[in-house]
Amino acid sequence: MTHLLSPTVFITGGAGFIGSALIRLLVNESDWKIVNIDKLTYAGNLESLTGVTSNPRYIFSHTDICDRPALDRLFALHKPTGVIHLAAESHVDRSIHGPEIYSD
Ligand SMILES: NC(=O)c1ccc[n+]([C@@H]2O[C@H](COP(=O)([O-])OP(=O)(O)OC[C@H]3O[C@@H](n4cnc5c(N)ncnc54)[C@H](O)[C@@H]3O)[C@@H](O)[C@H]2O)c1
Repeated sequence: MTHLLSPTVFITGGAGFIGSALIRLLVNESDWKIVNIDKLTYAGNLESLTGVTSNPRYIFSHTDICDRPALDRLFALHKPTGVIHLAAESHVDRSIHGPEIYSD
């Protein structure tokens, strides 16, 4: 059962490797409300979240975290308890498929 005082947490980069794993964990193992804020760069993959997208405690926002007015709207709308910031240009996948451009 979802508690009325369940915290709402923003997770940026939630379509990425680490973020999607964390969202799957939190949606399945806690009563937190999760707002996934992701720009969906080449690294973002919503398929890794298919098991949780129908959960009413999960919301996806296709947003660039550099878009300040959009973030202001999200904060005003959801009033999150906290933010877990995982949006990044980590290039992990690129470094595996084409490591030569990272060796210097
Ligand atoms: N992958 C690892 O093993 C690992 C280990 C330790 C720490 N980390 C750290 O965790 C963080 C995430 O790593 P990852 O491997 O999940 O990265 P990832 O590249 O798999 O995912 C990054 C996500 O951020 C999103 N994103 C990028 N720019 C954005 C923007 N401007 N606005 C909104 N979303 C944006 C992408 O669409 C993608 O979904 C990084 O800070 C990384 O250094 C990763």
